[in-house]
Amino acid sequence: MDLGVDIKSIIAEIDNASNLNELYQLKVKYLGKKGIISQLNKNLKDIEQEKRVEFGKKIHELRVLFEEKYEEKENFLKNEGRKQKLASENIDITLAGFPFKFGSLHPLTRVYNEIVDIFTAMGFEVATGPEIESDFYNFEALNIPKAHPARDMQDTFYITDEILLRTHTSPVQIRTMLAQEPPVKIIAPGKVYRCDHDVTHTPMFHQVEGLLVDEKVTFGDLKGTLTLFIKRLFGDDVPVRFRPSFFPFTEPSAEVDMGCVICGSKGCRVCKNTGWLEILGCGMVHPNVFKSVNYDFTKYRGFAFGMGIERITMLKYGINDLRLFFENNVKFLGQF
Ligand code: DAH
Repeated sequence: MDLGVDIKSIIAEIDNASNLNELYQLKVKYLGKKGIISQLNKNLKDIEQEKRVEFGKKIHELRVLFEEKYEEKENFLKNEGRKQKLASENIDITLAGFPFKFGSLHPLTRVYNEIVDIFTAMGFEVATGPEIESDFYNFEALNIPKAHPARDMQDTFYITDEILLRTHTSPVQIRTMLAQEPPVKIIAPGKVYRCDHDVTHTPMFHQVEGLLVDEKVTFGDLKGTLTLFIKRLFGDDVPVRFRPSFFPFTEPSAEVDMGCVICGSKGCRVCKNTGWLEILGCGMVHPNVFKSVNYDFTKYRGFAFGMGIERITMLKYGINDLRLFFENNVKFLGQF
């Protein structure tokens, strides 16, 4: 006599259940109120008297078998879930515990912030410009025409003939002057790029540009501002000197040296035994630059300056290898 159900396929269904929910759905399907096995029981009354007992017995056997398999599978799945939970809650007891170490600002960020603080306290505003620049802002408008030898001073990453990665923050001078009338009093910190990579050069580094334009600006203002800046950054006692130099966008131009902080001006490897370290370039804005932004160069005067943040940071903290800034070694960074 046949119950009309396939025991093998029921067992296979139980075997295939991959989680407790799927398994429970099988319980509903077979043993629920309207479940297949329950239904067989209900139909018993319609079966002829002499077969009923045997039929009932078979249904009972089927139910017992189902429950047995069910329980077996249920235990297996519960166990499996527990194992998974344990694995996911695994605690790495070798990890460092309390007190957690605080992170620290990157030395470049610290010095960057410090430079910005010093100049904003003097009334300079922070201006920014794009790192992808056009030839006009990066060179042309700064009195560096196409064939000018000064272009060789900077190894430029060109994107097209006219578009490049800015080689200095000086283009922000041009963008600012084109956007506003004097007086102008800005600093422009940011990333710059040069196609150069060795022990003392990285293809990306940071500069801070400065520009002040008004009616009666003198070289004396430039000297005063930058001397004060250096003393705020390195201390009142550090000697400062201005040395004639050349930049296409300033006339006259100067480079600023400060007493070597490594040897206290006595002479060492870092200052090449001169006792002096060059830390920035500056000068009075060239009339051609004013022309290219339509400022009246008979009426206005200005001074500008530019410096590298990496170099200043190395001097301030006595760091002797530029590469340390970009390796992100926690032991190095944790010292600041
Ligand atoms: N742009 C120059 C450089 O990258 C630095 C500089 C020098 C900026 C003199 C100035 C300046 O504004 O007046 O080497």
